[in-house]
Amino acid sequence: MTSLSDRFWMPFTPNRRFRQDPRLFVSADGMHYRTAAGREVLDSLAGLWCVNAGHGQRAISHAIGRQAERLDFVSSFQMGHPDAFELADRLVELTPGDLNHVFFCNSGSEAVDTALKIARAYHFVRGEGSRRRFISRIGGYHGVGWGGVSVSGIGRHRRAFGPALEVDHLRIPYDRSQSAFSRGQPPRGAEYAEELTQLIGLHDASSIAAVIVEPVIGSGGVYPPPVGYLDRLREICSAHGILLIFDEVITAFGRLGTAFACEALGVIPDIVTCAKGMTNGAVPMGAVFVREPVFAAFMSGAERQIELFHGYTYSAHPLACAAALAALDVYRDQKIFARARALAPAWETAVHSLRDEPFVADIRNVGVLAAIDLTPLPGEPAARGTACGQSCFDAGVLVRTSSDTILLSPPLIAEAKHVDQMITTISRALRALK
Ligand SMILES: Cc1ncc(COP(=O)(O)O)c(C=O)c1O
Repeated sequence: MTSLSDRFWMPFTPNRRFRQDPRLFVSADGMHYRTAAGREVLDSLAGLWCVNAGHGQRAISHAIGRQAERLDFVSSFQMGHPDAFELADRLVELTPGDLNHVFFCNSGSEAVDTALKIARAYHFVRGEGSRRRFISRIGGYHGVGWGGVSVSGIGRHRRAFGPALEVDHLRIPYDRSQSAFSRGQPPRGAEYAEELTQLIGLHDASSIAAVIVEPVIGSGGVYPPPVGYLDRLREICSAHGILLIFDEVITAFGRLGTAFACEALGVIPDIVTCAKGMTNGAVPMGAVFVREPVFAAFMSGAERQIELFHGYTYSAHPLACAAALAALDVYRDQKIFARARALAPAWETAVHSLRDEPFVADIRNVGVLAAIDLTPLPGEPAARGTACGQSCFDAGVLVRTSSDTILLSPPLIAEAKHVDQMITTISRALRALK
């Protein structure tokens, strides 16, 4: 193969290393990618936590094509198109509680920044503009916008970029010495939510706009919430007039067997973000849902006034709306969320079967998500994770590794034979590690 140019500055990638051994995919179908060299690779990450119904869903690509011919673009600033309104209605049918209004954007990062801005503006329009601080969580990933970087709980994502918003972080509600290898939501750890009360004592509720957490920490290592933890965060936020935001960019659209994880976990936040699976990954799109009282707070001024000075050129882009409507049809017609529910118990058994393999220090799972922590090679953090990811890829399975953690989130159409292949391949890779 001719060498790749360095003109494409690749995101979250060691650019120089990539060009020495590039992973180039030219097509995808169902559970598989095909490389430029014609090799099939099993996708154990649903692209990047987004292709929930599997690759190459024709109903979605055809809907995008038809829309591109019919209406290439219209702004949503003081004009619009019918599909955006239909999509809002269809999505709200899937949200639990009174999460009844939706703001469209183009990515998870934009959804997070939008949610944080809505939270501050909500307090502002109600005369509580001093509520500016956010509380998030160590290990949380919330995209790469300034808001998302500020609330991020992953040091290497923040440290090069200097000071950002005022944010405090709760700890990951997980103690490996108590909860290692727990299956699903750990029974212990709800008490970690009390740290929020301490932070409120420190800063005063009148300075805090919102708490933002992923209901399940995703790319930071798949940490399901301990039983009772999210309920307690909900109670504390409600008692202090603090908004609770769930970042569901990974968990929405079926990961936990329901449209939104908040439904599966039984806790309704005030604001929910989503993206990724919204279009099954086919076109960039994100969204922010707000509960009735949040929306109502903005709808009280003069009717001729713009209620929120926020939006994107491509908010509710016609191609994205067409893709999302078609994705919702696919999820419904192919019963994708029910498939996830059916797959979850076998998935749990399969990932935990790796417990006794070399270097496995912990395994966590919930829904169709899992993480396997490896004991790092002394003095060489990430070496084992990287080596394991590479040998899985060489053996035909794409897995994501973050430092020494293997992250798994396959398309929800995965069958037993795919799960077997993932587990067997990972097990062989672990046995070959030094
Ligand atoms: C929980 C969460 N929030 C936000 C984002 C950012 O989404 P995007 O990469 O679409 O901007 C991600 C991406 O993985 C995510 O996992």
